[in-house]
Amino acid sequence: MSTYYNPVRVTLAPGCAGALPERLGKLAVEDSRVLLVVRDAALLDMPALAGLADRWDVHSLVYAESLPTLSQLLALHNQLQPFAPRAIVGVGGGSVLDVAKSLASLLHQPLGGLDALRAILHSREFPAGAIPWIGLPTTAGTGSEVTCWATLWDPDQGAKWSLENPRNYAYAALVDAELLAGIPLGLATTTGLDAAAHAIESYWARAANPISSALALRALSLLFPSLERLPDKPAAVHPALAEGSLLAGLAFSNTRTTGCHSISYPLTMRHGLPHGAAVAMLLGPVLALNYPATMGREALLDALGVSSPQELTARVRQILRGAGLPDTLSGWGVPAAALPDLAQAGITPGRADNNPVELNPARVLALLQETF
Ligand SMILES: [Fe+2]
Repeated sequence: MSTYYNPVRVTLAPGCAGALPERLGKLAVEDSRVLLVVRDAALLDMPALAGLADRWDVHSLVYAESLPTLSQLLALHNQLQPFAPRAIVGVGGGSVLDVAKSLASLLHQPLGGLDALRAILHSREFPAGAIPWIGLPTTAGTGSEVTCWATLWDPDQGAKWSLENPRNYAYAALVDAELLAGIPLGLATTTGLDAAAHAIESYWARAANPISSALALRALSLLFPSLERLPDKPAAVHPALAEGSLLAGLAFSNTRTTGCHSISYPLTMRHGLPHGAAVAMLLGPVLALNYPATMGREALLDALGVSSPQELTARVRQILRGAGLPDTLSGWGVPAAALPDLAQAGITPGRADNNPVELNPARVLALLQETF
């Protein structure tokens, strides 16, 4: 019997970023140290952020990269030791939230170097506890504000890590669609497709439960129509995208992801595909593979608004093209000769084994060839 669990205090409403000082006041007394991690410096002028310095000793960190690496995290860990924040606030996309969340877990831990960091990630033990943090997503988005893990990259070893700490859920998430204003079409599309993948993969995951499945279906009914209207009416669909990505995050916070994410990681690490584009192109082919093993598959097709996996592939490709993005692996510059190695590397522990149908290199190669 499975139990749904998520401890994050979630607020979903346009303008709710304004509640940040009140939430922060529960975590950090006046004048204590607060670390603010943002995607770009312009966000610091937002009223909800600009006023924080009046009440707290704020250190602002601009993290503008898109794939957080272990080396970056180690450098930030060492740089921020003297500041020793009492609370952390992350305002940005998945990478910014993952950095804020990772620092919340790591700043109290002694780290002698990269190998010490790898050892902690491997053991998943954080004996010194975690610093409480609050997440405000600005993309359409990754759901990082409601999960207890962060994706980190290790280019020296060609590896992707997941920092997993069940004591490191955000204290609160403020999901404010107004923070999506001005987001570039391509970024909104790829992050929205990533959220759709979270919902679909959560639904067929071996670890699915009735609550996560209900959240996933509702997320999908919001996400796909919104993604299709995004090029013409961005502001009109931002609230539905924000809600859909949040619900998808709440769904997969309990189930993790599966085949599409497993196969996507080397595509991102080796060939630079945006995470959301990589997972989205795999959705139709993996649905075809998983379809016989997916419980409640008719409800999934209904929520997706398609009658077959092939229709899902066509719908995803149209969304990508509508945003001016390539819709195949070859279109993103992946050479055919790379597929066999990508198939071997696409079996990611913790993700591949959560897929309802067993994945092996031969099956993954066939999926990559379909996506090529
Ligand atoms: Fe994802």
